Amino acid sequence: MTTQTRCLRVGMVGVGMIFEETYWPFFRNVAHQPLHHRATGPVEVELRALASRTGQRAKVYAERCSAVNCHGPQALEQLLKQDLDVVCVATPDDRHFDAARLGLQHGKHVLIEKPSVLALQQLDELCRLAEQQQRLCRVVYHKLADPDHKKLRTHVAGSVLFHVNNGYCSLLEPKSISKGQFAEWIHGRNPGTYVAVHYLKLIDFCLAGPIPWSLARVTATGQRGLVGPSDGPTWDSVQMQVIYRYVDGREAAFDLHTSWVTPDNFPGYVEQEVQFRFDNGVWNAHQRKRGVEVTIENRSPGEFKYTPNHHYNGTFLEPWNVTSQRGYGIEIIQRFFEEVAYVEFGGSAENRSHRLREMRQLSYADASADRNVVAAVQALEAILGRHAAGQPGCLVQVNDDVGGLVLYTPGKAGHDILYSGRV
Ligand SMILES: NC(=O)c1ccc[n+]([C@@H]2O[C@H](COP(=O)([O-])OP(=O)(O)OC[C@H]3O[C@@H](n4cnc5c(N)ncnc54)[C@H](O)[C@@H]3O)[C@@H](O)[C@H]2O)c1
Repeated sequence: MTTQTRCLRVGMVGVGMIFEETYWPFFRNVAHQPLHHRATGPVEVELRALASRTGQRAKVYAERCSAVNCHGPQALEQLLKQDLDVVCVATPDDRHFDAARLGLQHGKHVLIEKPSVLALQQLDELCRLAEQQQRLCRVVYHKLADPDHKKLRTHVAGSVLFHVNNGYCSLLEPKSISKGQFAEWIHGRNPGTYVAVHYLKLIDFCLAGPIPWSLARVTATGQRGLVGPSDGPTWDSVQMQVIYRYVDGREAAFDLHTSWVTPDNFPGYVEQEVQFRFDNGVWNAHQRKRGVEVTIENRSPGEFKYTPNHHYNGTFLEPWNVTSQRGYGIEIIQRFFEEVAYVEFGGSAENRSHRLREMRQLSYADASADRNVVAAVQALEAILGRHAAGQPGCLVQVNDDVGGLVLYTPGKAGHDILYSGRV
């Protein structure tokens, strides 16, 4: 047994809503109680540097943990000059790639918020760098840690629920997100890339049963006119359909509806539900209708939602009289740090590459296992781009005769290859 305390030093790129909701509570929790595993002993995790556009929101956190507050155009370069082991990327989705690439090039383990990146070419580059540098490159999909989704996956893995045929998923965000919090970067963006990925990953990871399947095609449409002009590139709501094909020729179809223009006083703030239909069963789930309904005069639904989801992230007075903040949104980040700690401190130096391989094989979060989600996102971005340019109704075929991701435009001969390799 060793009493030496190990430490992972972290740089955080992007200090916005998700940092405040999940990363900061994790860093605060781990400052009180280090990670601990039989193989590693105690491992401290220290937030050493923050990078953001203005540094304003980050200032208070930097002061609280004596971290360097990097901001402005050189923020990332400044952050990477610090002595770090890990870089977490929580910038807007079209700014993940550069930060993740630079982090890996500097030899850091990297954690990226969903969606990892917007194109398979970018994903290939991150995976190549992770291999070259012998580091982890992982993606946060917290819905996989939701107990209800764990149970769904358990049922599919055990063939209790057998052979999914179709389903729908809906995730609706309030107007305050698109018009307030995200106003700086929302131009040209869409809510599908932002949140449909939660369900793309859930389908891809949890619903794959014993009969192999693969992503076959993607279509999408959407509405404009509230967040931006009705003929512009910024989308209010998006509906996409993804089709998987089983090796026996049967197909499964999923409709994913997303929006960031629902009313701010909507009861649960964020509205999320799914239905999946199998050969032998139906699974219905609603994120906030899990039993609690509460109304507090003058404070609901603003401060206290009518139907809160306490499983994702909540502050609690524990029965043993300590206050805590926990939930699967925080748990999934802690799990990443446990995986890094295991790679770096979980045994002898000679066996590090074995431990690295072991963690990479946990496909729920590894960038190398994010291909179908990134393919669907790349297809969606291309279809919406064409739509905004006056060509609605495009279809992307996956792994057809001419390429890995191939865009077809109605009424036009020929095709555009978005990605030539196999998805
Ligand atoms: N896991 C989830 O459920 C969940 C929820 C919300 C957001 N997210 C993801 O987290 C990411 C950030 O979302 P958010 O809600 O925190 O956004 P946000 O707009 O609240 O914050 C974005 C942050 O990134 C910083 N930033 C922007 N451009 C930068 C750059 N070039 N270099 C350095 N910093 C930069 C901004 O200054 C800000 O601190 C997105 O990828 C989003 O998809 C995930």
